[in-house]
Amino acid sequence: MSKSDPFWDKSAERYAKSPISDEATYNRKLAETQEYLRAEMRLLEFGCGTGSTAIHHAPHVTHIDAIDISEKMLEIGRGKARDAGITNVTFTRGTLSEFNAANESYDAVLGLNVIHLLPNRQEVIAEVARILKPGGVFVSSSVCVGNSLLRFIKFVVPIGKLFGLMPDLYIFTENELSAEIESAGFSLESQWHHGKNGIAVFIIARKLS
Ligand SMILES: C[S@@+](CC[C@H](N)C(=O)[O-])C[C@H]1O[C@@H](n2cnc3c(N)ncnc32)[C@H](O)[C@@H]1O
Repeated sequence: MSKSDPFWDKSAERYAKSPISDEATYNRKLAETQEYLRAEMRLLEFGCGTGSTAIHHAPHVTHIDAIDISEKMLEIGRGKARDAGITNVTFTRGTLSEFNAANESYDAVLGLNVIHLLPNRQEVIAEVARILKPGGVFVSSSVCVGNSLLRFIKFVVPIGKLFGLMPDLYIFTENELSAEIESAGFSLESQWHHGKNGIAVFIIARKLS
């Protein structure tokens, strides 16, 4: 089992308490995602954090597997689900590959604000394609700074990481990400920007049948 990144364990309480920075955009993402959800669907969210999004979607599907490498994030998520009376979300520690879901076992997979934290982005996208049913949807939200001056943050990350102030962070462009998703066997159904200089990219992609 992968080690938890101490940055996320340490940040969990603060992350849970911090208000959503752009509520209109968050609500737009929830609404767009829910257009794809049906009561009989099984959904998986990797990098679920404290479970807020899974809890929002839970009443719209039959079951959600919410996974994250940080046990502290998951503990908070379990408490929030209990308080909200949500019983169809299962929180499990690990990465997507450790979770090792069966082939074509999910109708939708979510990876929100997590892909830019992954050293093995292309493997993870391939894993999403493997576990989705044909016609299933992959919903992602990622920070793509490859074309922005912020790409130089890569020189700061190792120092920030050393002092526990930053997580791992990987640099790529929006075009690279969308091409990787398409070449893993998806067609892009929605793609839009938000955040400062449009560096955050929301994508809904459908697995080709
Ligand atoms: C920025 S938070 C996003 C949380 C949530 N998805 C959201 O949008 O609020 C990133 C989360 O990804 C988790 N994470 C980082 N690397 C991961 C990995 N390889 N597999 C699963 N979760 C991971 C962290 O522990 C953290 O909870």
